[in-house]
Amino acid sequence: MPSEVTAGAPGRETAPTVARVYITTPLYYVNAEPHLGSAYTILICDSMARFYRQRGVDTYFLTGTDEHGDKIAQAAEAAGEPPKAYADRISEAFRRTWEACGLTYDRFIRTTDSDHVRTVQAILQQVYDAGDIYFGSYGGLYCTGCERFYTEKELVDGRCPDHRTTPEWIEEENYFFRMGKYQERLLAALHQHPEMVRPERYRNEVLAMLREPLEDLCISRPKARLTWGIELPFDERFVTYVWFDALINYVTAVRELGPARFGELWPAAQHFIAKDILKPHAVYWPTMLMAAGLPLYEHLNVHGYWTVNGEKMSKSLGNVVRPLEMKERYGMDAFRYVLLRESVFGLDADFREDALITRINADLANNLGNLVSRTLSMQQRYFKGVVQPRSAPRPEDDALQATFASAATEVEEQVRALMLSRALEAIWRAADHANKYIVETAPFTLAKDPAQLARVGTILHNLLEALRVTAQLAAPFLPETAERMRELLALPATALTLPGPAWGAAFPSGHVVQAPVVLFPRIETAAAT
Ligand code: MSP
Repeated sequence: MPSEVTAGAPGRETAPTVARVYITTPLYYVNAEPHLGSAYTILICDSMARFYRQRGVDTYFLTGTDEHGDKIAQAAEAAGEPPKAYADRISEAFRRTWEACGLTYDRFIRTTDSDHVRTVQAILQQVYDAGDIYFGSYGGLYCTGCERFYTEKELVDGRCPDHRTTPEWIEEENYFFRMGKYQERLLAALHQHPEMVRPERYRNEVLAMLREPLEDLCISRPKARLTWGIELPFDERFVTYVWFDALINYVTAVRELGPARFGELWPAAQHFIAKDILKPHAVYWPTMLMAAGLPLYEHLNVHGYWTVNGEKMSKSLGNVVRPLEMKERYGMDAFRYVLLRESVFGLDADFREDALITRINADLANNLGNLVSRTLSMQQRYFKGVVQPRSAPRPEDDALQATFASAATEVEEQVRALMLSRALEAIWRAADHANKYIVETAPFTLAKDPAQLARVGTILHNLLEALRVTAQLAAPFLPETAERMRELLALPATALTLPGPAWGAAFPSGHVVQAPVVLFPRIETAAAT
């Protein structure tokens, strides 16, 4: 585990931060284009990566595409393309989408990349040489949608619980990984490190899976049936089972950075996935790592599933939510905000466009937007944008400062616990307090009396501080908005990193802020009025 240090962030007395994080998304299958679900995981990862970078934590962030196996071979065939050309096309669509979304990953890995193929073969050979891979025959119920065998018990009415399809009976000679041999060690690891799989409900699911004897894992496919895969290094008649191939990507990416960097980053790995792929990540992957003699990842962070208007998202229902369409319609930050704010990490969530609009109007246009425009327009009107010195704080000034200090502490704690919605709630509560502070201190009334102008200057200075800290705290989640707020406040780029200046020390005397702009226009629709 990485050592614990304090990073000097707001709330530093209570919230220790990790020295290093290695954040990964699942590798998305190239049989579908990016949608709300794939976007959600990568947006969480992007927010986490930005959060840690902002605190000076050594951060590496990986995403990419999963391109081998039956499912992709079938999709390519249906599209009338050779698998590689097909994978190139869809993988590129993912990359372009994520770039247009402004995501800050360090590498986009493809399972067809040559360094990945080499790493998979090296690990297979090593595990084979160690005697943990053997040849045998097996018959079982296989779901192509999940690319895995199911036990009778796992099926619901004989069907795959995820895809609702009847799995196919497949019987053939194959290579097997002695996964069962590692059952006890996996259980011990889960007990020693209770936060290995989180939240707790998914750890419990994994423990339940391990109450049954763990079977060995079929890790090959005969080329007679499937050629689209990585050839086994010890038998050219077979290709590697897609999960055994894909999971290794997490190691490939950092191994390529050299042994020293690998040694630093690998033990700090935090995988983010949804509950649909819990078993491969919580059972196959750690046992594979044990067999390969590698340390286990630090955390498997498991989130819930999104539905759309209460229904499973699917092409046939025509309810697929596409991130770029959302970006075009509402702006990327608004989409990010709503996804992160409307879901509790680990639980399922439902996406509704009317709820999204209500959220944007209430939190972004009204709460945050009003705070920005009222503060900057008064600063402009009364002082031509020039920041005034602060005089001795009154109790209401102290209360405002205290709210932002506790929001900062809460953000530290909640983000580390993956509770991004709570972190956002804390920031927006503070912004709300700042709006109430305007009403309570009434600078617009005081300004009518020239004798009160110094007090008005102090009030506005406090409000500018409120805007600065809001931008700083919100930056990992709403990066464009934070950047625009920083520009409006005319602060240097470093103003959004942590630790920032103390409250009251950010704006030097004579500093000039800009006139307001509308950050989030109110969305007028029949549903929103
Ligand atoms: N290729 C495998 C993962 C291999 S990782 C070594 C795979 N790919 S996938 O394209 O099907 O992506 C699954 C992941 O996409 C989920 O675990 C989740 O991160 C995200 N989501 C896809 N649909 C989703 C929802 N409806 N809701 C939330 N997340 C979802 O499985």
